[in-house]
Amino acid sequence: MALLDLLKHRKSIRSYLDRVVEREKIMMCLEAARVAPSACNSQPWKFIIVDDRELKNKLCDAAFSGIYSVNSFCKMAPVIVAVVSEKSKFLARIGGMFRGTKYYLIDIGIACEHFVLQAEDLGLGTCWIGWFNEQAVKSILNVPRNKKIDILIALGYYDRENVCLEDDREPMDKIASFNSY
Ligand SMILES: Cc1cc2nc3c(=O)[nH]c(=O)nc-3n(C[C@H](O)[C@H](O)[C@H](O)COP(=O)(O)O)c2cc1C
Repeated sequence: MALLDLLKHRKSIRSYLDRVVEREKIMMCLEAARVAPSACNSQPWKFIIVDDRELKNKLCDAAFSGIYSVNSFCKMAPVIVAVVSEKSKFLARIGGMFRGTKYYLIDIGIACEHFVLQAEDLGLGTCWIGWFNEQAVKSILNVPRNKKIDILIALGYYDRENVCLEDDREPMDKIASFNSY
């Protein structure tokens, strides 16, 4: 698929088929994330793939209860990816402090979107998940207390025929201009 078509076909998927996702496909998504650019080539990420059904269900029950239950649809997804934010390289951290910019979040965003787009190309659906009980996820996945999990990604097969591809984005003239603000 041409890149722009792929980008337009990617939508957040909140309903998944009960079908195992092959490890080879997950590895391709991880490879896409691995080659992502990052400030000072810091690569400040670690991806924890949760594809063991029992563990994934336990994780979802803990991550999406109470105020987070709006995201309990994730339990339908056969795979949950927890993205651990790792320490950036010294230069990126210092530069980020001077600039007041959290480069590591930009880096993680790019790597995750690589993952997500590779998934889409393989016929897999995803949903970025930023609203979840982080402490519960860290505890279940044995993530050290000093680390952060800023984002999860739900991953799985989905019904490609029943996705609304409506363009709900801002018009071009609102988001871009040439040569001046
Ligand atoms: C950083 C980030 C966090 C998000 N968190 C959630 C979330 O917690 N739950 C959810 O259902 N969707 C979440 N989304 C998906 C957005 O709602 C979605 O991308 C947006 O509405 C555009 O729709 P589309 O992805 O279908 O094009 C998140 C997306 C991003 C990029």
